[in-house]
Amino acid sequence: MEQYVIKGGNPLVGEVEIGGAKNAALAILAAATMTDETVTIENLPDVRDTNVLMQAMEEIGVHIDRIDRHTVKINAGNINDLVVDNEYIKKIRASYYLLGALLGKYKKAEVALPGGCNIGSRPIDQHLKGFRALGAKADISHGHICVETEKLVGNHIYMDVVTVGATINIIMAAALAEGQTIIENAAKEPHVVDVANFLNSMGANIKGAGTDVIRIRGVEKLHKTEYSVIPDQIEAGTFMFAAAATKGDVTVKNVIPKHLESISAKLIEIGCEIKESDDAVRVVSSKPLTHTHVKTLAYPGFPTDMQPQIAVTLALSEGTSIVTESIFENRFRYVDELTKMGANIKVEGNTAIIEGVKKYTGAHIDAPDLRAGAALVIAGLAAEGITVVDDILYIERGYEDFDAKLRGLGAQIEKATDENEVQKLKLKIG
Ligand code: EPZ
Repeated sequence: MEQYVIKGGNPLVGEVEIGGAKNAALAILAAATMTDETVTIENLPDVRDTNVLMQAMEEIGVHIDRIDRHTVKINAGNINDLVVDNEYIKKIRASYYLLGALLGKYKKAEVALPGGCNIGSRPIDQHLKGFRALGAKADISHGHICVETEKLVGNHIYMDVVTVGATINIIMAAALAEGQTIIENAAKEPHVVDVANFLNSMGANIKGAGTDVIRIRGVEKLHKTEYSVIPDQIEAGTFMFAAAATKGDVTVKNVIPKHLESISAKLIEIGCEIKESDDAVRVVSSKPLTHTHVKTLAYPGFPTDMQPQIAVTLALSEGTSIVTESIFENRFRYVDELTKMGANIKVEGNTAIIEGVKKYTGAHIDAPDLRAGAALVIAGLAAEGITVVDDILYIERGYEDFDAKLRGLGAQIEKATDENEVQKLKLKIG
């Protein structure tokens, strides 16, 4: 089991380059199977989840050429199996994007029920509802989601909840359906727009992505394209809060500042200075931080994927803050770990009541999921003394070179593979 050993207390200072958005990349990789021609994808993050998805795609006959660390060429002209099931794919959520993609192209697909971070119950009823509305049979059987039809026909679909995954899945299937599909109450996240732009660059006809009504006119087939994935809003936001919590001065580069507005607004509210340029945002944290209230919402609201990072920062800010999680019910599992570091947080249902403390002290803690894991690393960077974070496999699902990027900003953080190494690193950096 890999661990991070962190010596806290250094303000993070400098510039950090943000990679491609994991959650856009995952859907785009799946969507690349929707043509027999070769698709080139650039700015792909080299993280565990994208690699697991590509491995599963290769197992069903998709040819993937890794041109360099962030560029792949994908050819799905020889898919020989429409059943996607391996021990790793079950662990990632985005496997379900292969349902929409393969259903669109082959009118049939079977994918093992998706896993993903344990952040609450993660139903797929809206995905199934969408596929059924397009005329497919969609059932769960023996742990697999099975979708099948003779033909897909466009329909008017009203989503009961705002869901990124179901919106993208329906867009993909509808892109190759007969006639027009209208998705009402669609998700507006930047990665929904990115997937729609990607499909449009392959010849799809999708309008309205980024608003809550998306119109898709089905086309007969899609063609080759070259496409660069958008920058990762959540990776950028994570470094922004790392700057705030460590009293640092960090410029996140290669970002779309518009996507970061809800994050920047909260940082300003708690006392940071934000300077935006065309493709960079600088966060300066030189004053004592103060409390605020925040509720996670679908885009353009404050992202649920940033909830642990803001909470970790607020727990070091003066006064009482209230954090309300309205998307996933089980996203406060990091609180017990943070308590070991001296935080004063009480969770009641979907609300965390945070009494700011003056400092954290280093402790041995567990990363309970991807974003919570990253947030606990931020806590370790801000803490007095040494913090060891276990289970960093979760963090590596979604952050490329997280420790190296932090070291580039002056952090003292090293990766250890066993307890011996932890002890050695403690002596080295302690
Ligand atoms: C995506 O998950 C992301 N994952 C999540 O990021 C992110 O937290 C989430 O969107 C919200 O932004 C990927 O893109 C792979 P949803 P997804 O469908 O698509 C309910 C990370 O850390 N819902 O938008 O699974 C659901 O329970 C991960 O990178 C239904 O009720 O999320 C939730 O309350 C964690 N029925 C809400 O909708 C459905 O059929 C939003 O979920 C689907 C969802």
